[in-house]
Amino acid sequence: MAKAKIYSCNACGAEHKKWSGRCDACGEWNTIVEDKPLSTGPASNSLGSARGSAMPLSDLATAEDPPPRTTSGIAELDRVLGGGLVPSSAILVGGDPGIGKSTLLLQAAASFARNGLKSIYISGEEASAQVRMRAQRLGLADAPVKLGTETNLRDILTTLEAEKPDIAIIDSIQTMWADNVGSAPGSVSQVRAAAHELTSFAKRRGVAVVLVGHVTKDGQIAGPRVVEHMVDTVLYFEGERGHQFRILRAVKNRFGPADEIGVFEMTGAGLSEVTNPSALFLSERGQASPGSVVFAGIEGTRPVLVELQALVAPSPLSQPRRTVVGWDGGRLAMILAVLEARCGIPFAGLDVYLNVAGGMKISEPAADLAVAAALLSAREDTAVPPDTVVFGEISLSGALRPVGQTESRLKEAKKLGFSGAIAPTRSKMGTQTGMKVIQMPDLTAFVGDIFGAG
Ligand code: TYD
Ligand code: MG
Repeated sequence: MAKAKIYSCNACGAEHKKWSGRCDACGEWNTIVEDKPLSTGPASNSLGSARGSAMPLSDLATAEDPPPRTTSGIAELDRVLGGGLVPSSAILVGGDPGIGKSTLLLQAAASFARNGLKSIYISGEEASAQVRMRAQRLGLADAPVKLGTETNLRDILTTLEAEKPDIAIIDSIQTMWADNVGSAPGSVSQVRAAAHELTSFAKRRGVAVVLVGHVTKDGQIAGPRVVEHMVDTVLYFEGERGHQFRILRAVKNRFGPADEIGVFEMTGAGLSEVTNPSALFLSERGQASPGSVVFAGIEGTRPVLVELQALVAPSPLSQPRRTVVGWDGGRLAMILAVLEARCGIPFAGLDVYLNVAGGMKISEPAADLAVAAALLSAREDTAVPPDTVVFGEISLSGALRPVGQTESRLKEAKKLGFSGAIAPTRSKMGTQTGMKVIQMPDLTAFVGDIFGAG
């Protein structure tokens, strides 16, 4: 029996059983093409191993040494990469337009070049004069980086074949187009095809390829998401536009820990590293005030202290506002519900605002207790002791669960001049932290002890 053909839409990627002029998933015309299965006839194998062969894992370990890494000298970047750049790796750097991706990568290209790598920066967005102007502004005008302005994938691959760089930066993947794919640059199939060609080029030729991808707003689907699974490392560059802090976060890394962050500050002369993020995030903190709580968090392998700010005010609305910046809105709703159901502290009729200072985004459940503390402190108009950090996970029953790496959280807090902490009971900590730790079994005890209510 002949195999059924499969068709897919160039614009949205939806699969169809038969061809039609219009995709009923996204409504685009003339975007449906047949997906041809990969032929299994004799062909070259791009990964270099013998065709169809496999070898024992133990042999592989002796045959290949761990890849030599090259550091850029930008410690915050090297950390996020897992200790430096791995040859032949494909890296995606995603982020909102204008957040500073091109700036970061031009600085990285120059740093890698100064450390002996042959770097090439290919811009599909800016003319060479513009890139040169930026380089001048960054003080990198004489850096040994080659510059290309090109969007045709075939020409780019030809350039890379000829130049044989160690690292190639492609800015951005959304501007690249392969002439064998019929749709416009930036469409799902173009982004996917370009990413596929460039990542397989990286493996084949031993070139580290960095793809820049804009996170697109709703309605445009060809964001970095469609290439995340093709690359070895996915980094996101985040931050609030109005703030000078920028955070480079590893969300996937085949060669290092994920969830690692690097902290930068956007200045008039480019991005500068922030080696002690806690000090920076707390630098704007004034006097202890109701609603402000310092959370001792862990980002990747390192502890980071951040200030959480809450505001609770009577609401004129029938559905009070719940506004969160830097944390998960669903998690906030959960904590409000636990406070109400387990401790009898209602937030009905009250607007609640929660903000993580400095443009930082937190995803750790360990922030639960600090959030509850900030909310209660704002609601009761009572400040939490100013020299105290807070952390711990809250369960739906209102019990407090200990969290990992208590000791490093306490050490960092001590280093920054804090003398006390509020944490769940059974938290595993060393005896020599020099911190006064108040251990709480559940939220009710916490509310009673700290706020004298509940
Ligand atoms: P850019 O790297 O072009 O962002 P992306 O590539 O992510 O779109 O950065 C643009 C912003 O950075 C722009 O608003 C200006 C600012 N900027 C500085 O503040 N200082 C600098 O030295 C540079 C080069 C840019
Ligand atoms: Mg850019």
